[in-house]
Amino acid sequence: MAARRGALIALEGVDRAGKSTQCRRLVDALREDGHRAELLRFPDRTTEIGQLISSYLGREKNLEDHTIHLLFSANRWEHVPMMKEKLHQGVTVVVDRYAFSGVAFTSAKGNFCLDWCKQPDVGLPKPDLILFLELSPEEAAERGNFGNERYETSSFQEKVLQSFYCLMEDKTLNWKTVNASKSIEDLHREIKSIAEKTMQEVQNKPLGGLWT
Ligand code: TMP
Ligand code: MG
Repeated sequence: MAARRGALIALEGVDRAGKSTQCRRLVDALREDGHRAELLRFPDRTTEIGQLISSYLGREKNLEDHTIHLLFSANRWEHVPMMKEKLHQGVTVVVDRYAFSGVAFTSAKGNFCLDWCKQPDVGLPKPDLILFLELSPEEAAERGNFGNERYETSSFQEKVLQSFYCLMEDKTLNWKTVNASKSIEDLHREIKSIAEKTMQEVQNKPLGGLWT
């Protein structure tokens, strides 16, 4: 029998829902329990493509809308060989944003159809679980001001949220919505328990391809 594989777990959600905090907490907790787990975040600003993306987000550079969309996707593809290797070695990979952010943000610009936005990411490793951290725009606003990066306005984020809801209608994906208005600790416990259940369920199943 083939060795057990790790699970691919994506965290998505609106800005300030606590994705990065929860990703770190999850990886730490899984490791404490003796699992092998690693964290990746998209965009990964450390690669050459990631640096271009970062200067676009920081408004130092303007890029045409299709171009930046394809760069975000390329930034995921450049990590695929490493992700597959880890997953097959039994390492659970937790990703802070994935292709769903890619589609939701670009399609929120208008005059982009969801289908065009999905195409560059077709065939990426398919997440075994997508945790959507849900927070109302009002509660998000109470958590403080937006930063100065591109996309950080409440009107744009509202459109992003609507695109996420469209993506969640796809029942071939394992979306789980969690209420992100809970305390960090309670949310962490809920996320950890859902993640552990998924890790158990998929360990002997083949890794799928996204949107294939
Ligand atoms: P971050 O704040 O999590 O570093 O993400 C940077 C911004 O990039 C955030 O506004 C979401 C956006 N984004 C996209 O537009 N497309 C993508 O594919 C990803 C991963 C993020
Ligand atoms: Mg940000």
